[in-house]
Parts: sequence; structure tokens; C-alpha cells
Amino acid sequence: MCGIVAYVGAEKAGPILFDTLKRLEYRGYDSAGIAMRSNGDLLVLKSAGRISELEKAYLTQGSPGDCMGIGHTRWATHGRPSDDNAHPHTSGDIAIVHNGIIENYLELRERLFDLGYRFSSETDSEVLAHLINHHFRGDLAEAVSEAISEVEGSYALAVLSSRSSAVVCARKDSPLVIGVGLGCNYVASDVPALLPYTREVVRLRDGELAIIHRGQLEIKDLSGRPVAYLMEHIDWDVDAAEKGGYSHFMLKEIHEQPRALQETMAGRISEIGGDVMIDLGFSDDEVRKIQRVCIVACGTSYHAGLLARYLFLRAAGLPVDVEVASEFQHQQMRPETLLVAISQSGETADTLQALKKASPCGIRCIAITNVVGSTVTNLVDGTIYTRCGPEIGVAATKTFTSQLAALILLGIRLGRARGHISPDKARKMLVEFSRLPGFVQEVLDEREKIREIAEQYAGSSTYFFIGRDYLYPIALEGALKMKEIAYIPAEGYAGGELKHGPLALITDGTPVVALATCGKKIQSNIKEVRARGAELIAIVERGDPNIGKVASTVIELPPAMPILSAVLCTVTLQLLSYYTALKLGREIDKPRNLAKSVTVE
Ligand code: G6P
Repeated sequence: MCGIVAYVGAEKAGPILFDTLKRLEYRGYDSAGIAMRSNGDLLVLKSAGRISELEKAYLTQGSPGDCMGIGHTRWATHGRPSDDNAHPHTSGDIAIVHNGIIENYLELRERLFDLGYRFSSETDSEVLAHLINHHFRGDLAEAVSEAISEVEGSYALAVLSSRSSAVVCARKDSPLVIGVGLGCNYVASDVPALLPYTREVVRLRDGELAIIHRGQLEIKDLSGRPVAYLMEHIDWDVDAAEKGGYSHFMLKEIHEQPRALQETMAGRISEIGGDVMIDLGFSDDEVRKIQRVCIVACGTSYHAGLLARYLFLRAAGLPVDVEVASEFQHQQMRPETLLVAISQSGETADTLQALKKASPCGIRCIAITNVVGSTVTNLVDGTIYTRCGPEIGVAATKTFTSQLAALILLGIRLGRARGHISPDKARKMLVEFSRLPGFVQEVLDEREKIREIAEQYAGSSTYFFIGRDYLYPIALEGALKMKEIAYIPAEGYAGGELKHGPLALITDGTPVVALATCGKKIQSNIKEVRARGAELIAIVERGDPNIGKVASTVIELPPAMPILSAVLCTVTLQLLSYYTALKLGREIDKPRNLAKSVTVE
């Protein structure tokens, strides 16, 4: 996730670009850059690091530039944070800033290379600059339209050229808002950045081009026909706007999950070939020699690892050990073991330490992380980035479901390379998998019902979560969330294990959340707790005819494959703990005693 901005008006562009970019810093802040018209030429300033550093360099140079420019704050997905990878990217006298992922960039890069274009970054975005330059014959909007018709993926794009008096913008599946001022126009990835300047905005839609002049705004479709647009007046305050209108970052991030899952999958699935395209950093011959997988992780990431224990055995025939990183003891691992480190931040000291302990064993290692260039990526052969944008809320939400998605991709990738699953079976799984973002949206649409349930039980002194198979790790994660943000003591248990001790704690009115979307055996566990007076909150597949009869409350989810159902149950439990914490007045985004990234052992 990145932030893009643009300005066309009567004032010097630089200060406005920096100011608007700083308001988008929550979207990522590992590099920044601006491009402006300057005495008929283009002037580009960009570097790795924070926007404020770049601004200092701009001021030192005497605040150059005219009244028109574009800007970018980056959160790396393709290529580590560096000066070269920072946006804007240029080609001739064209500069672009991009937020999104170009899925077919390798293919475009090769073609453009053959046409003589040379690349100075590792990003997917740079192809856009060259592609627009390639199509530019005097009309920038036409060139942008032709270029994006060749692009697969998502983009919010702003394009500047010293030969055009307008900035041209386009979008597909990434946000872009135009702020309409008096004799000037602004662009930003999100409304908050624009509020100090104007409250009149136009939200660009997929398939539209915006041609932004100093005192005029034209919106066209991709074939150049003018499109009518709606001007919206914004009446929220700046503080609320930073969270995109949500009351907390956690709630915003919960709602970002459909998009985050799409980003995790983007460009990695071949439905036709029935395979997953992920470079593991070592050959498929080596993949075939792997006999065991060991996963190390902490907290929520550990729960993602537990789910992979079931998945990798089924999809790739590989037994899996999952270790809490701080308890990792396998210093004598056999060479045919694959070590997978899962860490959203990529900086958790316990996880890094476990990797270091394993390195003398000469085994292959993979990291699953959300942060490009984080320390964990330097300790492994290959990295799978979850690409879900910065997560500000301390309790992991979208990073967890994206880890689950990355693990599903990895499981299928390993299974295909080892010949454990057929292309046909993989294809079926992948087709279903690509429907996951839509299923998650359906769960989000049920939030009001989940809120009512959360409020009903918010006064409880304890909570239980039970699940079996894929849903057991999700029961653990549900309990962790309830502890982390609502501060209610909560236990997650394997359904079958409850009777071996914890059942003693179930009394009249104890809320027990049963994850019952798949498998019949959980029904006997449900009866066990009901017989002890528990209040049963059952999460079931839509249309389940049985559980409604025994449950106090039922939450219905869209029918989906068991592994996907685990993701849907997760989202439900995130909302349950969020609304419980809200009712209890907790400090949701910054729970007491916790930190987003724990860099001490
Ligand atoms: C901290 C966070 C947890 C997170 C854990 C592991 O304790 O509060 O939410 O799950 O670290 O973090 P990682 O970045 O390694 O996934």
C-alpha cells in the first residue's frame, strides 16, 4: 500500500505535495518522492526514508519547482526501500506515481526492454512510465489510456509530463480522490490528505481517466468519452478521516481484508495451469527432497503456523512441527527439513533468533512477512510477502488472514512441485480460493449482528472458543484477540480436549463460541458444554439445519471449503472481540502492555 498525491494550481507545488503526502504517511513511509514542472522541464526529488527528510533536502535546494506536480509515499512490495525504487519513476519527460500491483510487469518489462527502454529500479511500477512514454504521441490522456489497457493488476496512477498542462490520473481497484479547489485541483489516495485544502471531492471510479488542469477537471472513459461525475461535500473532521471514517485502525484493517487478500494472491495464481507461481529461492528438485517442515513464529503468526500443520500434510504430504519461536529447540535439524518463519513485522527478536539457531544445520528457510526488506528476509533463502499494507492497530488482523492466504499458496506450491496434488485438484482449490475476498466481504456485511452478540456478552468474566481441525488454531486466535483487546480471560481449545479438564470451568452462562462450519464431531462438544449451562454462540455454515436447535445464538457464514471457512471464522471472531472491546471502552488500537513489534527476546 502506498499513497499518491498531485497538485495543479497557482501556488508552488512542492510545499502542498509534502503536506498532503505527510497526511498519507499511514499508508506507508519507507521512501518518498515528488516530481514537478520546473521552468518547462521535469524536476524529480526522491529517496528512501521519511518524507520529512526529503522535505529538508527540498528546502535546502531553495524550494524549487512550479505550480504542478505529483508525489508518492511508498510502502514497498516489489523491490526493497531504496532511492532507485522510490517513486516517481520517469521515462523521457514523463513521471508517474503508482499505488497498486502490476501483475504482468515481468512480461511488459521484457517487451519494453526489447524496444530499447532501460530500467533503473526493481519495481513493477516503472513499466508504467515506459509504457506511457511508448504510447505518447502528444496527448497524455490518450497515452495513459492505451498503456493501462495493456496492464493487468491494480493501480491508482498520477502522470506528469513537461509536455502537458494537465496531470492525468487513472484507477483500478486502488483508491483515488480528486479535491476540487478554487482555481486549483488536488489528488490523493484518500480524503484526509485533502481536507485542509478543500471539502469538495470527486471519487474516481474504475475505468475512468481524470484530466486535471489548473481550473478545470475532465473525467473520461478509456475510449475518451466524457463521463459525468458527482461532487461530494465532506463534512467529517480530519482526525476521523485518517482512519478513513472508521472509529479505530483495527476496524479499518478488519474491513481492508478483502483487498488485502486480493493483494496476497495477485499474480501468484495460475488457474489454467493449476499451480502457484512463487519463487522459493531454491529449486523444485530441492522441494522434492524435503521430508519435514518446521514452522517458527510468535503470537498470532504462531496460530497461522498451526493451521499450516493440517494444510501442508494434506496438500503436500509433509509433516509439520510448529514451534513457538522463543521455545525453539531444533538445533540439530536434518538437512531435508524446510524451516518456515512467519512474522508480520519481520523483526520479532524471538523469531529471528530461532532462524539464527537453525542456520548451522544448513537447511533451506523461507519467510512469510508483510514488510519488504525487514530483517527476517536477510536470514532466509526466499520470502513470500503478504503485501497487505501497513497495519497500525497492535492486534494483528489483516496481516493474519493474509498469512493464512500465503500459507495456502505455499501449501499448493509445495504440493504441486512434489506431485502430491494433481493440476486438476490444485485448479479446483485455486478457483475456490480466488472467491475468498468476496466471502470475507459477506462476513463483514454481517457486522451489526456480530456487534449485538458482542454487546450481549461483554460483561462476561471469561470466554471459551472451541474448534477442531483447521478451526482449532482459529479458536486459539479468537481467544487471543479477546484477551489482547477486550482484556477478558479467554481460552481456546480443541473441541475434543475440553472434556479433559477445562470443562470444569463451564458453568451457567459461560459464553462458549463453537466454530462449527465444518465437521460433525464438534456437535458432541457443543452438547457437552450446553449440558453444563454454557451460552453457546455457534458459528455455522449458512443453512445448517442442526446447530440452531442447541445454540443460544447462531452466526451464519457463506459455505466454503474448510480451509477457507477458517479465514471466515477468523474475521467473525475479530469483529466479536472488536465490538466487545468497544463496549468495554478499551484502548483498542494500543492495548495495555503490548507492542506491534517486539524486538527483545
Ligand atoms: C507482538 C504483537 C502480536 C504479534 C506478535 C508476533 O506480540 O503484539 O500481535 O502476533 O508480536 O509478531 P510478528 O511480527 O512476528 O508476526
